[in-house]
Amino acid sequence: GFLILTLVCILAVNCNIIKEAKQNVRQFPDGFIFGAATASYQIEGGWDADGKTENIWDHMTHKDPCLIVDCSNGDVADDSYNLYKRDVEMMRELGLQFYRFSLSWNRILPTSFPDKPNAAGIQYYNNLINEMLKYNIEPMITLYHWDLPQRLQELGGWTNPHIVDWFADFARVAFENFGDRVKYWITINEPREVCFQGYGDVTKAPRLNMKGIAEYMCAKNLLVAHAKAYHIYDKEFRGKWGGTIGITLSMNWYEPETEEDNVSAEEMRQFEVDVPFLKDFKRGGSAQFDCKFIDFFDNCVAISIKLTDTPRLRHLNYSWGQYAHPIFTESGDFPPIMKEKIAAKSEAQGFYRSRLPEFTSEELELVRGSSDFLGLNHYTTNMIKVDDSVTYDVPSYWDDIGATRYQPEEWDGAASTWLKVVPWGFHKLLNRLRELYGNPPIMVTENGFSSFGGLEDDDRVSYYRLYLDAMLDAMDDGCNVVGYAAWSLMDNFEWMRGYTERFGLYEVDYTSPNRTRTPRKSAFVYKEIVRTRTLDT
Ligand code: NOJ
Repeated sequence: GFLILTLVCILAVNCNIIKEAKQNVRQFPDGFIFGAATASYQIEGGWDADGKTENIWDHMTHKDPCLIVDCSNGDVADDSYNLYKRDVEMMRELGLQFYRFSLSWNRILPTSFPDKPNAAGIQYYNNLINEMLKYNIEPMITLYHWDLPQRLQELGGWTNPHIVDWFADFARVAFENFGDRVKYWITINEPREVCFQGYGDVTKAPRLNMKGIAEYMCAKNLLVAHAKAYHIYDKEFRGKWGGTIGITLSMNWYEPETEEDNVSAEEMRQFEVDVPFLKDFKRGGSAQFDCKFIDFFDNCVAISIKLTDTPRLRHLNYSWGQYAHPIFTESGDFPPIMKEKIAAKSEAQGFYRSRLPEFTSEELELVRGSSDFLGLNHYTTNMIKVDDSVTYDVPSYWDDIGATRYQPEEWDGAASTWLKVVPWGFHKLLNRLRELYGNPPIMVTENGFSSFGGLEDDDRVSYYRLYLDAMLDAMDDGCNVVGYAAWSLMDNFEWMRGYTERFGLYEVDYTSPNRTRTPRKSAFVYKEIVRTRTLDT
């Protein structure tokens, strides 16, 4: 009997039966946690409920009611201010272990300062947290997900160094009120988008569009503000209540087209390019596009753009390295290449000092190592190609790193034009982060796919399966990925794209007064993955 069994086993292995069976079901390690994510302005509504004051998104969308592509805003959104119990019910339906949400600063501190905390605002988050804890769902709080108090914006927002204290005070109020029950904290969501898109561009509030100047002031102050909040938690709360705190960065992968494009791709991970500009088209390029925004340099920042002859001018902007390097390396500082390039350019442009502000030695000390884990928002990949024929003669705030970025036509895409399905990019990114930053614990705080709606979302199902598979490949390589949150629990206000691009596991019906939420196919698939803690491929 034993002999026959052995023979059968050998045969089975040779015929790949056992091997195949093993490959088909992949297990997530013990301790790995699954969740879903949202953000306050994108779901809460209740924009002026119970004492809440205006944030920069309220202000901007109220001032220009048709700025958003579908002329919408977040006044009501998913009405989670009233429907939070239904949200928790959905978390239970999915079997989530944690839920990532963010706090509305204005709901908690209507004056923006800690002088008069708003009991109703604090109560709202207590209700949500307590409801979740009833069902053993761990809260993960993002302190800042883009909805800055308008009053602070009037004082310069993230370009005013005082924001370090304003943010620290807000963080302390949050830790004091919720820290006994909340063990996962994220200080700030996607600083690159906050600074580059909001201060260097017009694609997020407050649309300051002061390229190469305000975006770097923002970057520096934001890093110090984050670090200060981290140390407050570390010194004053961790001992008492336990818990862990980090920052969330948006990180896409940049893949070199050929071997010689390698250096450039690496630079691109520190930098990123943007769309060309109207005056460049006027100078020779040609394009068809819908010019939605024109900035004060007469540049067009188009939302949809079709180029026939791309002008070879690019905007220098530092991608994820500018935030990861200071926090996750010994330097505590911006990447050397970023400092060198901006200093050299600034000098050539006649500035008396680098447009990139410097950290003091105390600030370097504060920023270095100021994260227990790396919160990672990952969605997509771009190809990079060196292009030395590039010439540069635009205004001083613009620059060029001698490379182009593109996404091949054959890559499958989502409703969002920038989002292509490239799971191997996720695998490569995770390995690169391991090499660059000493394999920090990585909490995937967002990953997801947009559609234009509909319950039969096979493309989203496929995206999740492929990306989770790629993540498991990276974990097999030794990457320390500790958790994963789908973006998003439900459809919500997708910033400048309003409600046109849908990221939800649950579909939200915006025509129904109670914002009915219905699970999509992807919700059932995700639920099964979470329940079995396996992925079959
Ligand atoms: C990242 C942002 O954090 C989130 O607010 C946004 O909705 C998603 N990306 C999708 O674009």
